[in-house]
Amino acid sequence: MTATPTSTTIRWEQDDTGIVTLVLDDPNQSANTMNQAFKDSIAAVADRAEAEKDTIRGIIVTSAKKTFFAGGDLKDMIKLRPEDAQLAFDTGTAIKASLRRIETLGKPVVAAINGAALGGGYEIALACHHRIALDTPGSKIGLPEVTLGLLPAGGGVTRTVRLMGIADALLKVLLQGTQYSPRRALDNGLVHEVATSTDDMLAKARAFIDTHPESQQPWDVKGYKIPGGTPSNPRFAANLPAFPANLKKQLAGAPYPAPRNILAAAVEGSQVDFDTALVIEARYFTELVTGQTAKNMIQAFFFDLQAVNAGRSRPKGIEPRTVRKVAVLGAGMMGAGIAYSCAKAGIDVVLKDVTPEAAARGKAYSEKLLAKALAKGRTTEAKRDELLARITPTADVNDLAGCDAVIEAVFEDTTLKHRVFQEIQHIVEPDALLCSNTSTLPITGLAEGVDRPADFIGLHFFSPVDKMPLVEIIKGARTGDEALARAFDLVRQIRKTPIVVNDSRGFFTSRVIGQFINEGVAMVGEGADPASVEQAAAQAGYPAKVLSLMDELTLTLPRKIRNETRRAVEEAGGTWAGHPSDVVIDRMVDEFGRPGRSGGGGFYEYDEAGKRTRLWPGLREHFTKPGVTIPFEDMKERMLFSEALDTVRCLEENVLTSVADANIGSIMGIGFPAWTGGVLQYINGYEGGVAGFVARARELATEYGERFTPPALLVAKAERGEIFTDD
Ligand code: NAI
Repeated sequence: MTATPTSTTIRWEQDDTGIVTLVLDDPNQSANTMNQAFKDSIAAVADRAEAEKDTIRGIIVTSAKKTFFAGGDLKDMIKLRPEDAQLAFDTGTAIKASLRRIETLGKPVVAAINGAALGGGYEIALACHHRIALDTPGSKIGLPEVTLGLLPAGGGVTRTVRLMGIADALLKVLLQGTQYSPRRALDNGLVHEVATSTDDMLAKARAFIDTHPESQQPWDVKGYKIPGGTPSNPRFAANLPAFPANLKKQLAGAPYPAPRNILAAAVEGSQVDFDTALVIEARYFTELVTGQTAKNMIQAFFFDLQAVNAGRSRPKGIEPRTVRKVAVLGAGMMGAGIAYSCAKAGIDVVLKDVTPEAAARGKAYSEKLLAKALAKGRTTEAKRDELLARITPTADVNDLAGCDAVIEAVFEDTTLKHRVFQEIQHIVEPDALLCSNTSTLPITGLAEGVDRPADFIGLHFFSPVDKMPLVEIIKGARTGDEALARAFDLVRQIRKTPIVVNDSRGFFTSRVIGQFINEGVAMVGEGADPASVEQAAAQAGYPAKVLSLMDELTLTLPRKIRNETRRAVEEAGGTWAGHPSDVVIDRMVDEFGRPGRSGGGGFYEYDEAGKRTRLWPGLREHFTKPGVTIPFEDMKERMLFSEALDTVRCLEENVLTSVADANIGSIMGIGFPAWTGGVLQYINGYEGGVAGFVARARELATEYGERFTPPALLVAKAERGEIFTDD
């Protein structure tokens, strides 16, 4: 005999009018999750609801925690292997069945969403007939499973398709995994009402129950039919054929199984009855959760990201500090973006440039971004005015008095940077944190220009600053732990993700992305068809194709870096090996006068508006050799391996000290394909593991050059059977 389940994580509170409030409140955790206790509790609740049906008028589901419900337990999911497929399939089936019993009880069921409801949390809300979200700051609603390489298999696919039609379900909810604020969730049909307070939310929930008596089937509201057959949205059939084609185009052959499975589950599930659709959804989920891509993505976007943001690389034992007033030096592209991000986080900004006009232009950038946000309903006039009031543009250094942090973003020139720090270091607060946003100049050298090198640090933002979530913190030889901790806190204060590296030429990100670009350009030099090189980058999953990226960065930049690096290597007594891409870049610039997009053309041609039109036909004429074909798989792996191998060298050289920082930095900073879980996780997850990666690197070295020879650290890891991990 099986024991009757009891409810330990859901409280049953029934009032004398027959309204039952189910309060989600796991006593052992700060957030509610889909653990065994919840599975038992929801079954017990369903049993009781069925047994006491006659005494119930309606049900409200809400939570006693800050979040409504946190979703599945990723620690368990990441461990599932292909042989665990049945287990994965069965997990969740029981929960779904219990939710379905409550949904089909014949009583109105209302979700009173009092905080974040993402993934499994929103799926619980979806199993209710009516959803009311409390409008609290930071509260998010949606199904972000796709961003972890998964699909929502708690009824998420099946119910959203029936709720909003296949087009909206796929585009607004499932394929992008968008996380909506309560107001935007309302605008996009994810919830029915927004409440301003808990009392308001519960009053609205009761009102729904009062107006939907049993005689009027509660689910008989627009678009939602259960127990249901197939969805009857007329737009469904009309839109269907476009989806696979669009998706294929969007993915460009990159190996992301989740969007494909989501599409299949949605389409197949829409043609069968509800309960069969739930089974289809679960099967597609099982395939994903037991595969490598989901493991990679969960590792990166959950565990690594959490570790990085939580301060894995922040020195311990140093009191956190907040910045009140920041000096941003240089109101160009980067300075303007940095000023916006700081002001957005509530920090007062003094934005300094050489003339008042230049400084005002920098502030105008924030005005432009805010006008756009206002038009899209993402901010209010009051918030816009408040943010703009925090930015003071100026050309007068004396206005920097009182600043407790400085972020310098003037032209990339050591003498100039030394000079601007000299000018301001005695005007700002005596212990102000001194940061440079240089993208190439060694921090240790720049620190020589200030009186307090221990307070000097690199803060490398990415462009466009308002969109890019990463900041690379660079510790110079004389940077103190206090400055590192403060820089870390500042990056978190502006709600960005900080990775920490030690000073070196190109730091981590610029150096490693350089390998990717060089490899793509080298293939052009070997005579490969340039269109195939671009295609290979897209199919490997890179967000930007390699030659187009080179054009954006301009071809003169790697030349400058190369010459400086060569000088440094030779001065240190080393020999400079060069790279096969060098000759292609030199010819493009010197012989053909094609330095990239800003110079009128590079590997691509551009129209007058600067829009890319086509690959420059001269490439075929001057570089492509008929008969040369590099296997497609080799092309993809040459790009991926060149970055992964150089990252291992960064670990060997102590430029990097954390695996999580490497993985997060590679995806968020330099577009290393997300399906890999980051540049070191790519090695861990390679077929045959680290040893398989080493064997393949040796093959590439034999075929394409010594730069693919696996570094000693990598070989040692393979021999010891270890993976790259911080644990
Ligand atoms: P930019 O050319 O757009 O802006 C530089 C600004 O500095 C100009 O407005 C200029 O008037 C101003 N400036 C020059 N001398 C000054 C002085 N004495 N006092 C105050 N302002 C002065 O350059 P951008 O692209 O914003 O780059 C700035 C820094 O950020 C450079 O060090 C660059 O290497 C670095 N960086 C650039 C990235 C990019 O994608 N453009 C990415 C990451 C870092």
